[in-house]
Amino acid sequence: MAADLIKDGVYAVGARDWDERHFHGQTYVVKRGVTYNSYLILDDKITLIDTVRKGFEKELIDNIKSVADISKIETVIINHIEPDHSGAFPEILKLCPEAHYYGTKKAREGLLKYYGAAAKNWTDVKAGCSINIGKRTLEFIDAPMIHWPDSMFTYSAFDKILFSNDAFGQHYTTDKVFDDEVDFAVFMEELQKYYANILWPFGSLIGAKLAALSKLEIEMIAPSHGLVLRKYINESFEKYSRWAANACSNKVAVVFETMWGSTALMAEKIAQGITSQGVEVVLFDVAKTDRPDIISYMLEAKGFVFGSSTHDGEMLPLIAGFLCFLKGSKAKGRRAFAFGSYGWSGEAAAQIEETLSKIASFDPALKVVYAPTTEELQKCYEAGREFAKKIKSER
Ligand code: FEO
Repeated sequence: MAADLIKDGVYAVGARDWDERHFHGQTYVVKRGVTYNSYLILDDKITLIDTVRKGFEKELIDNIKSVADISKIETVIINHIEPDHSGAFPEILKLCPEAHYYGTKKAREGLLKYYGAAAKNWTDVKAGCSINIGKRTLEFIDAPMIHWPDSMFTYSAFDKILFSNDAFGQHYTTDKVFDDEVDFAVFMEELQKYYANILWPFGSLIGAKLAALSKLEIEMIAPSHGLVLRKYINESFEKYSRWAANACSNKVAVVFETMWGSTALMAEKIAQGITSQGVEVVLFDVAKTDRPDIISYMLEAKGFVFGSSTHDGEMLPLIAGFLCFLKGSKAKGRRAFAFGSYGWSGEAAAQIEETLSKIASFDPALKVVYAPTTEELQKCYEAGREFAKKIKSER
């Protein structure tokens, strides 16, 4: 691939990872691949914003060389040091040893720890600092925990571009560059999935940052993953505001794992009861659905229903892993209940409640020995129905 012009003098020079299917270890299945976006600004001082993951240095360097002499880069901005963005830092440092590097103090310290490498010319950036690179003044916006403590954004008022690093990213590789060149529904699906799986825990910080960003003139958001936003900026801001506020709607996710099908039977009856009240419900068997897709749905769901069979006194391992991940989301204001079948003791429901006690309030659990009878399935239906009524009645 070559460098992509996104605005006069501004190029996307990052890498497309078409084949990646697991991001953050095994935590995020990325069925549409990943991009590691970097940007090059051709001004009096040629400026590189962020690098790429280790292994993609050649693509970055080739892309830069297609529009500029890499040895002439005078400014390198490190918005964030997570290895998906800083992996090529040592290589860039080798090729541009005299350039001036900018990032937060935490970024400098982190790069030293990761790579044992330090730029000769480095400035610790603080909130509100700016630098002039010719026609452009680049402003640095601190963005701690969006997505790591070192994170910041860079804003070019001249271009009206916000280089937002992880914020507004999507794990979505295509041969296109802009949001309006792909299917809108797919773009929004990936924007939501990314927020739910990467940024959900940081909603309060994101909400405050959005308020600050709304004062800027922004015609383009250039994130470090996925497509550049130019058409759907308002829609994306609105979605981010909603998610950051932990807003949710009358939807229920029934998430379960089953050994011999009894817990699955219960899940289906509960879902029927929920549907009877006109409340949207989706069943997710954690053994059959990618976790990021479930988490993405749950971002906007008011009701969480969790089921697990009990095995040797414990909930099943896939649902346990799922709850462990969900617990980190810091979701708020959710209503929930637990259910499941068991053979002799039935601890799973109580374990589910305990695991998620900080992010949801639980109604009484439903437990069934071995297989549900017709009467017990009716109780599942009624539990789903009553749960849906509460979901509808609560704001
Ligand atoms: Fe895309 Fe926090 O790294």
